[in-house]
Amino acid sequence: MSTNTVEINRQRHRFDGRESVWLFGYGSLIFKADFPYLERKPASIRDWERRFWQGSHDHRGTVEAPGRVVTLIEKPGALCRGMGYLISPQVFDHLDIREKNGYLRFTTQLTFDDGQQVEGLVYIATPENTAFLGPAHERDIARQIASATGPSGPNRDYLLRLADSLRDLSAVDVHIFDIERYLNEQASD
Ligand code: SIN
Repeated sequence: MSTNTVEINRQRHRFDGRESVWLFGYGSLIFKADFPYLERKPASIRDWERRFWQGSHDHRGTVEAPGRVVTLIEKPGALCRGMGYLISPQVFDHLDIREKNGYLRFTTQLTFDDGQQVEGLVYIATPENTAFLGPAHERDIARQIASATGPSGPNRDYLLRLADSLRDLSAVDVHIFDIERYLNEQASD
């Protein structure tokens, strides 16, 4: 099973008097913006890389057959491309529930394409959370994704939509594109 992080996240940041906060999205938060935002623009964060290492029992899989979704892993020098959203602090009520399966909010520095830098928040599922699955070969991750489905739909849709969104952002992410390639090859076998 997994850690429900809703209560922990509620205690983690104080937004006293703030009207807006930047959020960095690098997974489904890029392609599924089911929340109101004031502004949205491509951004990157440093020293983190995207990995399909988090288990999903609640969205893209089940307890018996968990899917895989992305989290961020610390890697000095890495650059992770994603989407910045300027949101009102109340939106975290919704986001904390959506990201409750092991994701904690962390402060990070976003860099926009024009070089402007702002402080913001990002949801990361760290290796300590009980739904964390960790590394596996991209071919095996593709196989697991191909067979998993959950209340939010097939795990493969998460992967394919993420890969498309990253291409739209001109992001180079070998890990994600390798998993996509294996998934497509396995489907045609
Ligand atoms: C994110 O998209 O920023 C977090 C991971 C996810 O919800 O897929």
